[in-house]
Amino acid sequence: MTNVTFDGHLYNVKRVMEECLAIKPDLIFLWDEAWYAFGRFSPFYRRTRTAMGAREALAERYASDEYREEYAKFKKSIGKIDISNKKALSTRLLPDPDQVRFRVYCTHSTHKSLSALRQGSMIHVNDQDFNEDNYEAFEEAFMTHTSTSPNQQIIASLDVARRQAELEGYEFVTKQILLALELRRQVNNHPVISKYFRFLDPVDLIPAKYRQSGLEKYNSPGVTWKDVVDAWEEDEFALDPTRLTLVCGTAGYDGTELKGILADKYEIQINKTSRNTVLFQSNINNSHSATAYLIETLVKLSRQIDNRLARASASERAAFNARVKSLTEDVPDLPDFSHFHDKYRDNPKSKTREGNMREGFFAAYEAKNCEHIKLFSKEIDDRLRKGPELVSANFVIPYPPGFPIMVPGQVISRGIINFMRALDVKEIHGYHAEMGIKLIKMPKPRTTAKKR
Ligand SMILES: Cc1ncc(COP(=O)(O)O)c(C=O)c1O
Repeated sequence: MTNVTFDGHLYNVKRVMEECLAIKPDLIFLWDEAWYAFGRFSPFYRRTRTAMGAREALAERYASDEYREEYAKFKKSIGKIDISNKKALSTRLLPDPDQVRFRVYCTHSTHKSLSALRQGSMIHVNDQDFNEDNYEAFEEAFMTHTSTSPNQQIIASLDVARRQAELEGYEFVTKQILLALELRRQVNNHPVISKYFRFLDPVDLIPAKYRQSGLEKYNSPGVTWKDVVDAWEEDEFALDPTRLTLVCGTAGYDGTELKGILADKYEIQINKTSRNTVLFQSNINNSHSATAYLIETLVKLSRQIDNRLARASASERAAFNARVKSLTEDVPDLPDFSHFHDKYRDNPKSKTREGNMREGFFAAYEAKNCEHIKLFSKEIDDRLRKGPELVSANFVIPYPPGFPIMVPGQVISRGIINFMRALDVKEIHGYHAEMGIKLIKMPKPRTTAKKR
């Protein structure tokens, strides 16, 4: 599982592992913490929201007498856990402390958030059965994928990053968090900037049902560190404050446009955009002058818009408002996963939606199994209405947002086609407009002969 996401959504890692271990006590967890090597160095993130920290916190918890009592009560109330039973799904599950095996792995792209050279990354292993069960397989897999000509500079930089984080990480990460909170406060309360730009808060990015604490914003009057700590301990999802999503659609800019302006004129680099936002990130290397520079830049951009609008004709104003509306309201909904084609499901009648993506993937290896249909063609609409179903031959990933909206073997729904048609991003991995959508050929539905 990916923790943290690009946009800063943090799982409650402790809770996820706890409830999964209740169902399968020797489950192996693989956490992709690519963006999150710094998390270990702050007590806010560590114990509940990082793989390695949560693993330690759970081990301590299960070793205590209090937990044994809690578990005994739970066991009495629920009996044997049966996950096909609704009660089990709505109950907070607890694992048997005598059965649990801790088998946790996580990957860190150290280079993304600590001081390593690019490509410097680490796999952290905290698996109590590693030596006995996994060492050989792990080493073989590692040797298969690594190079026999390692880059010593990268490896040395990993060592520097580790040592720096160990000696100074706490101070640096605290500063990284404080700068982000300060930036949020300044931008969202600034009389000029806040007319056009705004950083999104937990309330905007996490639905209320996953934010049981009710924490809405980090900077609301009266919110204390304790409120944040309590929310992070319990909430199903939390927002990493150092991931700063800035809404720019309200200033009439789409993400790519603003990214270009910031890079070309102000030498500020953005690495993720969406239709109406850009994402900033505070890091351990940031200083107050860096955040002051960003604020100054946003003030300049806001004043430019103010001046432009003050001189604008009625039709120019209407054009600005229409642009803002199109960027903020007419945004295509990201379609939910549809379903796999029956051909790629072991049990097409099953209520759950799993399928054999691998079979779909390899079916598309042979050109004769595939066809292309243009996205805006009448044929697509005809097939959606009358079949045969449109079945994706590959991954299609618009960037942004960077999630697959089709996977091999998946049936393409009307919602997916509408989303693709409304998209105005240039980069769509797995899709070439001049050829059309790549599909796995499906037989035409058999027409039954008319009875005479
Ligand atoms: C979630 C996630 N996992 C893994 C990676 C790959 O990381 P690396 O740069 O160390 O190869 C990325 C890169 O952006 C990522 O976003």
